[in-house]
Order: sequence, then structure tokens, then C-alpha cells
Amino acid sequence: MSEQQEEFAIRVRDLVVGFGRQTVLDHLSLDVRRGEILGLVGASGGGKSVLMRTIIGLIPRRSGTIEVMGQPIGGRTQGAATAWGILFQQGALFSSLTVRQNVQFPLRENLVLSQELMDEIAIAKLEMVGLRAQDADKYPAELSGGMTKRVALARALALDPPILFLDEPTSGLDPIAAGDFDALIRTLQRTLGLTVFMVTHDLASLTTVCDRVAALADGKIVAIGPMRELLQSEHPWVRAYFHGKRSQMLQHEMR
Ligand SMILES: Nc1ncnc2c1ncn2[C@@H]1O[C@H](COP(=O)(O)OP(=O)(O)OP(=O)(O)O)[C@@H](O)[C@H]1O
Ligand SMILES: [Mg+2]
Repeated sequence: MSEQQEEFAIRVRDLVVGFGRQTVLDHLSLDVRRGEILGLVGASGGGKSVLMRTIIGLIPRRSGTIEVMGQPIGGRTQGAATAWGILFQQGALFSSLTVRQNVQFPLRENLVLSQELMDEIAIAKLEMVGLRAQDADKYPAELSGGMTKRVALARALALDPPILFLDEPTSGLDPIAAGDFDALIRTLQRTLGLTVFMVTHDLASLTTVCDRVAALADGKIVAIGPMRELLQSEHPWVRAYFHGKRSQMLQHEMR
């Protein structure tokens, strides 16, 4: 493996993705370094979730190349999505399965393990995300929002993936729960050596946990770097996003 491949967990080049006559991603390029937490921001409907799903192999692309951990992702394959650590924006858990069964789902899909071993793994993953063994027999309807996110995270970690894909992991959580979740992501990233690709609108997450932030506008990455560099960006959308009235108000509140 060359040094260049080792440096990057994800490499996207000239990616074009669209639906019918709509082009969502238009010759987009992006590198995610190994071991970093990269935050992705962009307008609602701008293509953040589409980008994540395309990298995972769930959405076909029109052109361009994608490499994940040095392996090319096929253009038309419907990738084995359960093998990646993914926390989707919507529909986090299967409502008819218990917490334990939810966490075990990727194990069942991808491996042949004894029930005993799967139970042990499920409990270990739940503890890793700060839940208790007692929570394992609950159904999703019996969980708080924060617990739901943690179970989804435990499920994403089930197969010990090298990369975690998180689509707005803290949306819908109160600021304290969101802060706790951010701290958990940081701890997991450090202890497990994970690369984290995180779509978020949460300014606190961007400032406190992301090593770098990428901004998606007009189907491309228009700025990427540490948050302090993004705040200096001259790009009109990036300026409007970080220096618009609403975010100024929030930043003022944060001080
Ligand atoms: N499976 C699909 N079929 C057709 N169009 C789609 C599909 N998935 C997404 N789109 C379109 O692609 C565009 C980008 O959607 P996407 O979900 O990536 O936005 P987003 O940046 O994640 O927004 P948000 O911040 O609101 O989650 C939208 O116009 C959406 O309607
Ligand atoms: Mg989205």
C-alpha cells in the first residue's frame, strides 16, 4: 500500500451524482484523513446525505471515483452497507426488534456466530456507548431520544468498522445530551482509532469535536479545513452560513 493510500481513509474524485434531470453532486472531490473527525456542512437539500450514501455504495454515481480504506467502491454495486458503521439521519432503529436484536442485526447479516457470542458482543457495544445491560431488552419505543442515538451508534460499531458515518447524530437532542454524545464520539474515535465522517448542523459539534470541516455548496466542496479557517472563508455560502444572523446569535450565546 502506498503512503498516499495510508494517509486517507476516503478519497473522492470528480464525483457526479444525480436523479433524473437533477444533478446533486457536480464533480465533487474530497479527502478524509485516517483517524480524523471530519464534519460536513451544507444547505438543506444540498446533497450531504446523498454524498454519504454514495460513498457507502448505496447510491450509484454517474462518474468519478471513490476509494474507502484504499479499496475502490464500485460504481453500480449496492454495497454491503451493513458492514460499514453507519448512523442514518432517519429511521435509526428497527421498531419491532429489541435493543439487543438491533445491535446484533449487522452481526447476523454478515457473520455466523453463536447466540452466546452475539449476546456478549451486544452487551459490550452497549456498554461502550454508555448504556446498561438492562437496556438490552427494551424496544425502541421505550427509549429516550439520546438513548436511541446511542443504540444506533452501538449498532454502527457492531462489526468494528474502521470508519463511522454519522448523519446528523445530535439533531433532536438537547444541548447537554448533544454535548455528551459529542464527547462519546471523540472518546470512541481516540480509543478505537476510528475515522469519523459526520454530517452536522450543530455549531458546537463543529467547533469542539471536528478536526476539520468541509462545506458543500453547488454540488462541490467549496472549503475544507479546521473550523477557524472555515470562519475566514470568503466563499459567499460559507460566509452566510457561519456569519449569518442566526449563527451569530448562536455563537454569541455560546460565549
Ligand atoms: N433517492 C433519491 N431519489 C431522488 N432524489 C433524491 C434521492 N435522495 C436524495 N434526493 C435529492 O437529492 C437532493 C439532496 O438530498 P440530501 O438528502 O442529500 O440533502 P441533505 O444535504 O442531506 O439535506 P438535509 O440537511 O435536509 O438533510 C435533494 O434535492 C433530494 O430531493
Ligand atoms: Mg441529510
